[in-house]
Amino acid sequence: MPKLFATRYGHFTPDGREYVITRPDTPKPWVNVICPGEYGAIISQAGSGYSWMTHASFNRLTRWEQDLVRDEWGKHLYCRDRDSGRVWSLAFQPVQSKPTFYECRHGIGYTTITAQHHGVRSEYTLFVPPEEPLEIWRIRLENRGRRTRRLDLFSYLEWNLGPAPDTHREFHKLFIEEEYAEGAHALLATKRLNTIAEHGRGQPWNVEWPHVAFHALSLSPRGFETDKEAFLGRHGTLRAPAALERPRLQGKAGKWQDAIASLQAALTLRPGETREICFTLGVADDRAAALRLARKYHAPAAVERAWAAMRRHWDRFLGPLTVETPDPGFDVMTNLWLKYQAMSGRIWGRSGYYQPGGAFGYRDQLQDSQVFLPLEPARTRRQILLHAAHQYGDGTTLHWWHPLTEEGVKKPLNDDLLWLPFVTLNYLRETADFAVLDEPVPFLPEPGSSERQSGTLYDHCRRAIDSFWDRMSPRGVPRMGAGDWNDGLSAIGRELKSESVWLAHFLVGILEGWVELEHRCAQPDRAAIERYPREAEAMRNAVNQHFWDGAWYIRATKDSGEPIGSSQNRDGRIFVNAQTWAVLHDVVPAERVAPLMRSMERFLYKNYGPLLLYPAYRKPDPEIGYLTRYAPGARENGGLYTHAAVWAVQAECVLKRRRKAWALLRRFWPVHRGMEPDLYQAEPYVAPGNVDGPDSPYYGRGGWTWYTGSAAWMFRIGTEWLLGVRPTWDGLLIDPCLPPEWKRFRMTRRFRGSTYHIEVEVARGPARMTVDGRPHEGNLVPAFADGREHRVAVTIPPA
Ligand code: GLC
Repeated sequence: MPKLFATRYGHFTPDGREYVITRPDTPKPWVNVICPGEYGAIISQAGSGYSWMTHASFNRLTRWEQDLVRDEWGKHLYCRDRDSGRVWSLAFQPVQSKPTFYECRHGIGYTTITAQHHGVRSEYTLFVPPEEPLEIWRIRLENRGRRTRRLDLFSYLEWNLGPAPDTHREFHKLFIEEEYAEGAHALLATKRLNTIAEHGRGQPWNVEWPHVAFHALSLSPRGFETDKEAFLGRHGTLRAPAALERPRLQGKAGKWQDAIASLQAALTLRPGETREICFTLGVADDRAAALRLARKYHAPAAVERAWAAMRRHWDRFLGPLTVETPDPGFDVMTNLWLKYQAMSGRIWGRSGYYQPGGAFGYRDQLQDSQVFLPLEPARTRRQILLHAAHQYGDGTTLHWWHPLTEEGVKKPLNDDLLWLPFVTLNYLRETADFAVLDEPVPFLPEPGSSERQSGTLYDHCRRAIDSFWDRMSPRGVPRMGAGDWNDGLSAIGRELKSESVWLAHFLVGILEGWVELEHRCAQPDRAAIERYPREAEAMRNAVNQHFWDGAWYIRATKDSGEPIGSSQNRDGRIFVNAQTWAVLHDVVPAERVAPLMRSMERFLYKNYGPLLLYPAYRKPDPEIGYLTRYAPGARENGGLYTHAAVWAVQAECVLKRRRKAWALLRRFWPVHRGMEPDLYQAEPYVAPGNVDGPDSPYYGRGGWTWYTGSAAWMFRIGTEWLLGVRPTWDGLLIDPCLPPEWKRFRMTRRFRGSTYHIEVEVARGPARMTVDGRPHEGNLVPAFADGREHRVAVTIPPA
């Protein structure tokens, strides 16, 4: 089979749906976050990882410790040859044996690890069916030798059952109880203590973990074990557990063990024979439901149905927008992996190896939910309403909150609340579903009160925007509060006096967008129509009068009034967001565009993409925040911060700089960066949160993969700005910003209920367009909203 983007660690399959890792010793764990909804599991190329339901930190089922070097915590599978006594693991971990063949295929919704040890070929597939609280490990063993093999398979996992990391495990283990349910071939596990009260039921520290976990086998196990010491042996290791030296696991269930779960399956394979068995791991509301699920997957047909449902689920969500461009690396990420990362990793799973997470960030998942706009906009809608319900009556919001407990943190980071109208506007441009504005949503009760006001989504958005009138600095830009989009500026506004220039840019665009919305409402609000443009213009002037630093915009001021991101500073002289959003929201006057872009190119655009700021802070600045405490060049301190970097590409597209936009995006496009795997280190199939900047000795090293808001933004900016197929109030705009070497592309995309097959070609002559074969004026495709398919052909002149 042809290999796409092959390196010494792996390659994509030709259809891009799998990344095939060909050896376990990748530079860092290369993982798959598999979460089609509520239940999630992560698995690395070495076979390590963990599982959770709803919340990866508050309801983690299996123990895992964050150690990306050893990467040994996981749910493991051992195989033993009963005759020779040889033991290996189906994945690299935990035995670390040397298979004659090893391959880990991370796919959309599943991972398959194939290996061959001592003449036995094993294929271990982990997948999570949609709508079910469990994962399935489908295992095929094939005897490739000439004699009959008598084999034992052993599973192994450590229960966590609740909040993680549970650092006090000697305490917590005292509350876990296991039962062996013979008919279901299952170990059931419960915990008599939960330190949180899920959904407000019961008292934290005085309530049961309200679920029953199960670990089951499709055939009748030969034995089981529930005690870690019995399994590993005193001072034993995961590499060579003592229990595997005995013919049978002979554990006891009960309340007194150091709770693990291990099931033993005995198999005999004639030469050439293949056998398939399944383990499940999952969680249910009660014992009966756990037993039902355990039993259901004894049947291979049920496993097959779950597999097919899983495939359909991901096709449904990823399928509605596809592209074909001259760059297969662009296509693989856009058609599959960015969407998958945004949904599986960020919206549903909210977890990754670098950040186990679990909470909802007010601004984070709202932005992420924009990935659904062209795919399944009802999901964006749902996310908008969910976040609206985490807003107070005065317009402010929680900075983040935990599902399951609804606890959250209220911090005055003054951008949080504005993402609600920002995403709502984008949702409306996509869908024209103005009815969403009338949806009633409760406000959070003010601390100390139980009274819950309610308002429509429209009210929620307006309160967010209008709360700014009391929040302006004397110079006419918004106060930053305790921070803004850049969480690392965590100390810049402790006295709530600092000013944010980026926030001014951000707010200007929202005010103007909102006026466009009002004009389209049945009963436009005259006061907003009159006031918002005036305020936007005043803010634009204030920014340009006070915060233009000669060749770029200052980023912010500290509580003391001292600027950051200014030529007066030694470190952190220029910040990218203060420049990009001035372009995106049209704050920068025409005569300043050229110097502004020159400054970006000169200071920020580096080999691996645009940096967040330059130069890195060499010393911690307690008046700025933890951003300055990272090592120089790491993450937000002078690294490429992918989430912000994509906005620079968008700015290039807004300015129609066709030679720049893709050239810049390509510098940090994961597939292309992945071609230098030893330098880059990160997975080539998902976006990294950051890449080390020039002030780091590891310049070019990627990290913080999966758990980054950049996935959804990369997808959006690639399709809406680079390819330029962009929803607007009045139709689908086709306004590409293609690099000179791209002569054509195709896109199939849904828009307001119709499907558009769009073909763009670069050719001499004037720009022209046909819709369903008929010439069409301009470059705005109407929203037919007829449920049909339409063909759009566009010709644009060369760059
Ligand atoms: C992290 C936060 C996000 C923030 C970004 C920049 O990704 O989750 O909310 O905007 O860092 O600091």
